[in-house]
Amino acid sequence: KQVTAFAPATVANVSCGFDILGFAIDELGDWVQVTQSDSGILRVVEIQGDGGKLPLEPEKNTCSVAIQAMLDEMGLRQGLDIHLFKGLPLGSGMGSSAASAAAALVAANEILGNPFEKKDLVPFAMEAERIACGAAHADNVAPSIMGGFVLIRGYDPLDVVKLPVPEGLYCTLVHPHLELKTADSRSVLRQQISLKESTVQSGNIAGLIAGLFQSDFELISRSLKDVIAEPSRALLIPGFYELRESIRSVGALGSGISGSGPTIFILSQGKEIALQAGEASKEVFKKIGLGVDVYVSEV
Ligand code: HSE
Repeated sequence: KQVTAFAPATVANVSCGFDILGFAIDELGDWVQVTQSDSGILRVVEIQGDGGKLPLEPEKNTCSVAIQAMLDEMGLRQGLDIHLFKGLPLGSGMGSSAASAAAALVAANEILGNPFEKKDLVPFAMEAERIACGAAHADNVAPSIMGGFVLIRGYDPLDVVKLPVPEGLYCTLVHPHLELKTADSRSVLRQQISLKESTVQSGNIAGLIAGLFQSDFELISRSLKDVIAEPSRALLIPGFYELRESIRSVGALGSGISGSGPTIFILSQGKEIALQAGEASKEVFKKIGLGVDVYVSEV
């Protein structure tokens, strides 16, 4: 038996939701083909599209680590061969390692007769994130598996909540040609925040979620602020604040760092503004002399 599955790119954090909020970008992602074998072991047979950078060792590859966590939970020994086709750039902040793990789990789950609901695959994918960046965060893997906007209400125990997406919400992804490892962008974060910062951040995350429920684009716009991770991480991304300035004039709702960067996400009401925000971003990076890829997609 052989199954191929696709899992999408994701924007984690969404400004104020550090480690607890993310959404999927359906047009971009990774594909994983899983084939049953009688070897009795997991093998990563082939990886395409990674420029030879990803490990084939089953204990280091996010596809096999995620599937192994699932097999361990079931107490099952099953030979599976894995082929990974990367559609996402590595170290981009678009949830590349998460998409590989998510697609691998969806394919393996189907091979095994779908013993798990999609939501129940999230903890297995988190084990892959632990291997990839040292932190088992779920804000990429949960939306990559479940689609749409997903809130991680709590980690202990894991409590994953799917949120509504207002119609006409568009995302522009601006990917500067830089590589940032999540482990490195996590290492620049402050370990302590003040009471005031906590109040500001809580107000914004509550506002953003209320805005999603009420399809209130103005409220979403006012809430797209991050006083915890962004001030430290923006320093690693040239053009970050210039871009924010330039998309204001086209009427976008706001911008932030996608996951741990360097990709920047921009939210807009309607495709036209999202496209204009993309053009404005290209101008910013042209001035800096840094190449970018721009993607526009409905959320
Ligand atoms: N929430 C994670 C972080 C996402 O910000 O480190 C990594 O893509």
